[in-house]
Formats: sequence, structure tokens, C-alpha cells
Amino acid sequence: MIHVNDLQGKRFLVYGVASDTSLAWAIAKDLAERGATCTLAYQKRFMSRVLQLAKEQKWIDQMEECDLASEDSTKAFHAKLTGKYDGIVHAVAFAPAEALMKPITETTQEDFGVAMTVSAYSLIRVVRHGLPKLNPNAAVVTLTYLGAERTVPGYRIMGTAKAALEQLVRELAASVGPMGFRVNAVSAGPVKTLAASGVPGFDQILDWMASNTPLRRNVTQADVAHAARFLLSSDSSGITGQTIYVDAGYFSVGAPPEMDRVLIEPRLNPPEGPV
Ligand SMILES: NC(=O)c1ccc[n+]([C@@H]2O[C@H](COP(=O)([O-])OP(=O)(O)OC[C@H]3O[C@@H](n4cnc5c(N)ncnc54)[C@H](O)[C@@H]3O)[C@@H](O)[C@H]2O)c1
Repeated sequence: MIHVNDLQGKRFLVYGVASDTSLAWAIAKDLAERGATCTLAYQKRFMSRVLQLAKEQKWIDQMEECDLASEDSTKAFHAKLTGKYDGIVHAVAFAPAEALMKPITETTQEDFGVAMTVSAYSLIRVVRHGLPKLNPNAAVVTLTYLGAERTVPGYRIMGTAKAALEQLVRELAASVGPMGFRVNAVSAGPVKTLAASGVPGFDQILDWMASNTPLRRNVTQADVAHAARFLLSSDSSGITGQTIYVDAGYFSVGAPPEMDRVLIEPRLNPPEGPV
């Protein structure tokens, strides 16, 4: 059994490290702090950054390039892996920048296909190739965003891709559950990363969240990593097919708290009229 604070001897396959701000990097480091080792799959364009980051990190047991948009690259990557894993982290998304700049009605079929392939279909690919390499009771965690369920300015086709990803979490959980494997998602609040910087208006979304979440702050990489670790450990052994919100409570909010001050308070304490 793996327990949240003891991952000694456990091993995880982590997709999606591009820089020290990557959610995948935060999750991998957090797993390592509890004694786990990790294999990193990185995209070629981030190779030099990732090699630099990984220097002297003894908890990284292997690092290989993998393009999840390509079946051949994914196959070649898996052929280089040795040994088994106790879990997989899928922290990967992409949509062409132009597609995030244009109204949704202008989305091309090609851009739609790219966003869906990299951000949703890649989870199927990761699970299919990963299955023979999993230890009993292994778990898979992916990362999603509120844009899957609500419109968020600037998110555009990524929202549709994340909606597909969340349904795939349920489908894959049903498919691999009988083998004893679990699949879950963390729906993270906005965090400044390379991918997030490509979302138009992202800084304004961060400002909005900081004053409108119940916790009155944005989430951190560490907040997301802690939840991912929980979902990868046996402490969540009965949870599968779920999307768990790590968003400082924003998902529970129906209207901004400012409405209280502007609309409600004046009614409760009406200003006194002229004497
Ligand atoms: N940062 C946020 O605000 C936020 C919020 C919720 C969910 N997420 C999700 O978290 C995940 C990680 O993103 P991040 O914010 O850490 O940004 P990031 O830029 O650090 O990570 C995105 C990763 O996707 C990888 N990637 C893109 N195309 C790929 C491909 N074809 N093959 C293999 N890898 C590919 C990139 O190499 C990169 O490592 C994404 O799924 C993102 O949608 C992010």
C-alpha cells in the first residue's frame, strides 16, 4: 500500500515538464519528497530547459523525449522504458495560439484537431501504452480546468478539449477499473505557467480569482501537487473517474462576493433619508 507520506520505492511516469513552473514539475518534486522516483517524458522543444532542471536530481531515473501527438513517437518512447510504474501523471495540453486569439466561430478544423489530439486524445495514448508497464493498483492523474464546463474568456477551443478530457477520465476509469487501475483528474485554478501564458487575458483571470475565490487567493503549484499525490496514492484507493477541484473554492461560487457589498448590504442597512 502507498500512503500519502510514504512513497519510498514507488515509481511514477510523468508527462509535461517544460520548465520549473510546470505543474508536472511540481507534482514530480512533491512525489520525490516522499521518496518516489520519476521518469520524465518531455517534448523536444523544451529539451534544453528540462535537461538543465534535471541536473543532480537523483530521483529522476530516466528522461526521454516523447511527442504525444504522434503514435510513432509515443511507441518509441515506451520501447525505451524499463521496469514498472505505480502511477502516471498526464499534464499536457496545447492549442495553436491563433486559435485562442480568434472567435470560436473562426476555429479551423485543423486547429480543433490539434487541440483535441494533444489535450484529450493523448490521455488515451498514455493509458494504452502505459497499461503493460503498470504495477497492481496503479493510478493515473490528468489536469483539467474550469473551461471544460463553463466559458472562460480566452480559453475557447481548449474548453472543448478539456470537456473531452474529463469525459475520457470517466471512460478510461470504467475501462481499466476492472484491472484495478484508477483514473482521475485535478481541475486546477489558474497558475502562471508557460501554457497558461498563451491564454489571452490570463493575468486578468488571475486578478479576478484572487479576489473572488472563497479563499481570496490563487492556487499554487504546491496546492495542485498535493491533490495529485493524494490521487496517485492508496489513500484515495476508492476514488476513480472523478474530477477534483483544486481552485481555492471557485467552483462553488455562483456570484462574485462583491455583489454582497454592492447589492445586498445596502438593502439590509438602507442609508438614512433626509431629516
Ligand atoms: N496553468 C494553469 O493555469 C492550469 C490550470 C488548469 C489546468 N492546467 C493544465 O495543466 C497541464 C500542464 O500545464 P502547465 O500549466 O503546467 O503548463 P506547461 O506549459 O508547463 O505544461 C504543458 C506541457 O504540455 C506539453 N505538451 C504540449 N504538447 C505536447 C505534445 N505534443 N507531446 C508531449 N507533450 C506536450 C508541453 O511540453 C508542456 O510540458 C495542462 O493540461 C494544462 O491545461 C493548467
